[in-house]
Amino acid sequence: MLSVQQHLTSTPSVLTAAVFGGLGLLWLYRRLTKRQAIASLRDKVVLITGASSGIGEACAHAFHKAGCRVIISARRLEELERVKKDVISRTVEGQSHEPQVIQMDVTDFASIPDKIQTALSYHGRIDILINNAGLSYRGSALETKIEVYQKLMLVNYFGCVAVTSAVLPSMIGNKGGSIIAVSSVQGKIGLPYRTAYSASKFAVQSYFDCLRAEVAEHNIHIGIISPSYVQTNLSMNAVCADNSQHGKLDSTTAKGMTPEYLADRIVLQTALGEADVVVGPFLHCIGGTINVLFPAWIRMVMRKRAKKGMTAED
Ligand SMILES: NC(=O)c1ccc[n+]([C@@H]2O[C@H](COP(=O)([O-])OP(=O)(O)OC[C@H]3O[C@@H](n4cnc5c(N)ncnc54)[C@H](OP(=O)(O)O)[C@@H]3O)[C@@H](O)[C@H]2O)c1
Repeated sequence: MLSVQQHLTSTPSVLTAAVFGGLGLLWLYRRLTKRQAIASLRDKVVLITGASSGIGEACAHAFHKAGCRVIISARRLEELERVKKDVISRTVEGQSHEPQVIQMDVTDFASIPDKIQTALSYHGRIDILINNAGLSYRGSALETKIEVYQKLMLVNYFGCVAVTSAVLPSMIGNKGGSIIAVSSVQGKIGLPYRTAYSASKFAVQSYFDCLRAEVAEHNIHIGIISPSYVQTNLSMNAVCADNSQHGKLDSTTAKGMTPEYLADRIVLQTALGEADVVVGPFLHCIGGTINVLFPAWIRMVMRKRAKKGMTAED
């Protein structure tokens, strides 16, 4: 029989062991669930837009690694061939599907239905669509030409709509699929000197939020991923107020997460069927929520940021 004193001293250690044991089991369960979900992607057909560099390129590797049949698209054919070669060179046993390449400009709307038919002809279906092609922007609203706003909307918003619209009928026919939109934290919260980009990403968020409910009955998963800064060429390719190219690697972009990290998160989001995922440092992740809960405070922060001018990159 334990004395009262022994009881009192052993209870905390039993509790600690139970808590840590429970957490360990939960961690193991979550790990196994994720692994199983990713395994379920094997042999799925994935079409990725904007796969000639950055996040799209990393997605090509990540989905291929998950055993998917990857179709990569963008405008620059030579870059797509490079990505294809690279993916093949990293093929390990069991992941034998050779990527297919489709040259596609997401703003050439007339050509998109034919391009999607070509994609469908490779494996007879598209199970997963990753709407990733995109363009960024730097500039003051006062100086920005209307053509710049149009350009950003064409690539970032109408491009997604055009490709999604062309893929949806076949997904409905196949009774299921998954469509992911690569948005941005700037699709949750507007920053000064990013009007054209932020507006296009808010449009993406709204379109896919509406679409999600409409296609749920067809077993089609709609996922939106909103990353913070990612180490890619996005800032180099960004368009400025006068339609010129920014041509600079911003320090925030250089310090961002790797495209490989984000691509793995996109694979997981697809596998788990998650609706809305924000990826990045804690403050960036909760920015959208704070904006809803304390809008006046966010407005003050943004006014201060605007005063710093175009140099504010944090
Ligand atoms: N990097 C970041 O910090 C960050 C953060 C949040 C969200 N994002 C989003 O992530 C996505 C990918 O960007 P990234 O960072 O990987 O930049 P990136 O390296 O510049 O890649 C952009 C991709 O989009 C393609 N693209 C551009 N215009 C196109 C068009 N008209 N038709 C077809 N493809 C087109 C480019 O290929 P071609 O030039 O060969 O056509 C390229 O493959 C974008 O939607 C971006 O908004 C990026």
